[in-house]
Amino acid sequence: DDVEGETIRPTIVTILGHVDHGKTTLLDALRSANVADGEAGGITQHIAAYQVEHEGQKITFVDTPGHAAFGEMRARGANVTDIVVLVVAADDGVMPQTKEAISHAKAAGVPVIVAMNKIDLQGVDEQRVLQELSTNNVLPAEWGGDYEVIRTSATTRQGLDELLHTIVLTAELHEYKGNPNVPAHGVCLEAFRDEGRGVLAWLIVQQGTLRIGDDVLCGPAYGRIRAIYDDHGNELEEAPPSTPIKVSGLDVVPGAGDHFFAMADIDEAREAAESRRQRGRAESLAGRGL
Ligand code: GTP
Ligand code: NA
Ligand code: MG
Repeated sequence: DDVEGETIRPTIVTILGHVDHGKTTLLDALRSANVADGEAGGITQHIAAYQVEHEGQKITFVDTPGHAAFGEMRARGANVTDIVVLVVAADDGVMPQTKEAISHAKAAGVPVIVAMNKIDLQGVDEQRVLQELSTNNVLPAEWGGDYEVIRTSATTRQGLDELLHTIVLTAELHEYKGNPNVPAHGVCLEAFRDEGRGVLAWLIVQQGTLRIGDDVLCGPAYGRIRAIYDDHGNELEEAPPSTPIKVSGLDVVPGAGDHFFAMADIDEAREAAESRRQRGRAESLAGRGL
């Protein structure tokens, strides 16, 4: 169905899987960066997003933490996504958070591509992993099912091109579209307060184009967009659909999973934010029996 103004946009891929199965390292290898090394205890504490280009197509990757406490954020991560890459370490197999990830992906109703990771390790039992996937309703394509299982190693880079190629093929099949010409809206992946720049929020624009100077409502926060940075920290003037960006200009820190909207003007944004905050205060008073 053609909607006026819609164009092909970058595919949004969320990486899900059990803790330490190699999500961040795999993503690092895909973008040739080194995020995992700098993480406290090697545990991803937040959702980060990056864009890579393969076979002329842009792919936006969203990394998620594997720790159980982040289940809710992960569920939200799955909602902005077009495709899920389910990372399963070949030496460990399907674990509790792999199962959780499978149910998030199925609930989101999006295609799932399995990366059987750490395939470089000695003595891994591929057949066992395929069997475990099957018992969890992820029947591998090689066994007649719907799910491609790509053998990968984030360490040796084996299978990375095949993984990217499978993502590109899936994207071509689905033709993910966005409309850059409507008011911008999307989702906040994470946000924090920075000493110098005030509130910084990682956003993914889902529809429309977000521009410097736009007046935005984001959860309980509002403000005029002061600066937009891409995933390399470069300043942008504007961000079309599927772009992962970091913005400054919001007055308070929004939550992971909060939606944002470009509003008509700053008054409308402020009024909407204030009524949300009042409602929040009323609910919290009511919750304490006041
Ligand atoms: P959380 O974010 O904490 O859930 O973990 P993660 O899934 O992002 O895993 P991470 O990338 O932190 O990797 C966990 C460990 O596995 C690290 O020591 C990596 O170096 C190692 N690792 C990741 N991929 C591979 C791989 O393909 N082969 C081998 N041998 N080790 C890997
Ligand atoms: Na880790
Ligand atoms: Mg990680």
